[in-house]
Amino acid sequence: MQKHIRPQDLARDDRFNRITTEQRFSDPRQRGEERRLDKGAADLADRARRQMHGIFVGEIQALEGAGRTAFDFDSPGEVPYELKLDMARQCWDEARHCEISLKLGDHMGIRVGEFAESTLLFEAACHEDPVFRLAGVNRALEGLAIDVFTTMREFGDSVADPILEFCEDWMLADEVTHVRMGSSWLRAVTADDPDRRARALEFQRTVDGLFNFRGVRGEEAGAGIRLARRFREMAGFTNEEIDDIAAMAQRDRLAAAASAS
Ligand SMILES: [Fe+2]
Ligand SMILES: [Fe+2]
Repeated sequence: MQKHIRPQDLARDDRFNRITTEQRFSDPRQRGEERRLDKGAADLADRARRQMHGIFVGEIQALEGAGRTAFDFDSPGEVPYELKLDMARQCWDEARHCEISLKLGDHMGIRVGEFAESTLLFEAACHEDPVFRLAGVNRALEGLAIDVFTTMREFGDSVADPILEFCEDWMLADEVTHVRMGSSWLRAVTADDPDRRARALEFQRTVDGLFNFRGVRGEEAGAGIRLARRFREMAGFTNEEIDDIAAMAQRDRLAAAASAS
């Protein structure tokens, strides 16, 4: 089986609607506001459906990315065997998340491919250095999943939908484990290589910066995507790291407000 496959080679049937990362970030409909699940928004149901479809395709790519990291590296010096076992365990979680998300999609009236799929998560999982994969996927993007699932869980509660609320809660529990695995392995593998660790954390920061949705992510009540500080702490983020993500989101929010005025 081929190692290090390209994102454009991911297998999808013709229901899916693939777009490039460039298209994803230049689409004015995906600037961040569409992430807000504010009660009273006229298109609230569509926003929730878009968010859920995004979670669904993210779960597929998380499964694919963890699988590649378990498979792509042969040398024990590159990836410890125990790390591969954790990635294999993560695959099992993500496979369940795919099924849960697909059924939640049915529950919410979503058709597969109704919204677009960009492959940025998998692209981060293609980095040639496995430590960067852990930083970009397990810590940045699955850290984002902690925030998104917390927000969707609260949304499920607010609209009295226990199916959505509990499904998000179950997936959230797994994501905390995935992020914690990323935190632990990143620190363990780079224990004697501070430069490699610093570069991996800078990559993580770059990915985090791309997904603040112009400051829609934030810690305050009413944020479009709630920065879930307590769960992030449980997942191995330091307070300084969480403060940094919050400050980045705040800067993006101010910049977006300035450009709109
Ligand atoms: Fe997941
Ligand atoms: Fe995950």
